[in-house]
Amino acid sequence: MKGIILAGGSGTRLRPLTKVTSKQLLPIYNKPMVYYPLETLLQAGIKDILVIIAPDHAGDFLKLLGSGKDFGCDFTYEIQDKPEGLAQAFLIGEKFIGDDSVTMVLGDNLFEDDFSEAIQSFESGARVFAKEVPDPERFGVVEFDENMKALSIEEKPAQPKSNYCVTGLYIYDNTVVEKTKRLQPSDRGELEITDLNMMYLQDETLDVAKVHGRWFDTGTFESWYEATNFARERAMQESA
Ligand code: DAU
Repeated sequence: MKGIILAGGSGTRLRPLTKVTSKQLLPIYNKPMVYYPLETLLQAGIKDILVIIAPDHAGDFLKLLGSGKDFGCDFTYEIQDKPEGLAQAFLIGEKFIGDDSVTMVLGDNLFEDDFSEAIQSFESGARVFAKEVPDPERFGVVEFDENMKALSIEEKPAQPKSNYCVTGLYIYDNTVVEKTKRLQPSDRGELEITDLNMMYLQDETLDVAKVHGRWFDTGTFESWYEATNFARERAMQESA
């Protein structure tokens, strides 16, 4: 299993903080934001990790993360020239992925859960993780039947069919590269991860698990602040 941290994008919603640095390098309490998704991958035993970054602050990521030696892993770096969608990561990462499966985590997502079991038990298809939220229209939304089988997935629907959003952790088998090549850019000009998940859903190979602990997409001031409070509480508990 390979890992990808997608840490590109322009972070416009966090301006002016992101005027001179990248969103994923901003602090969440006592660590840079990108450390949290990195820890999610490391906790699951993933040691071969591709970090995808925007051109502007690429040098700062290299300075911060280095070769991976300090974290007990190997980093590969790729530049995403323009933020043309989350799924583009699998085109940029095609060589890196090779013949393996891949777990991708978004560089601005912070999870409390340990996903070791979910990642290590993965065999084929796709596995995504859903969390009940009060504002599903901000996210990819998944609708379930009574047996928790996914019925539909929609990106930022005006009328969400459920309160469950798809969080920024995705596990895919090796067909992800070929599937991504078949995607067309959406109206906003992006290769949508939701369209990719829909392909797996149509193939009946999409597994949706629940996120049990806290989860933060730290891309807005409010969620960034909440995540900082959570990270602070956790750090205090750990040092008590
Ligand atoms: O956080 C979970 C949500 O992430 C999902 O529920 C949505 O289905 C998914 O589309 C995504 O929604 P966002 O609105 O949060 O996506 P955003 O454009 O903010 O990008 C998420 C992160 O990925 C952000 O840290 C920037 C980075 N990114 C984004 C794009 C579009 C890239 O590195 N490259 C890109 O091309």
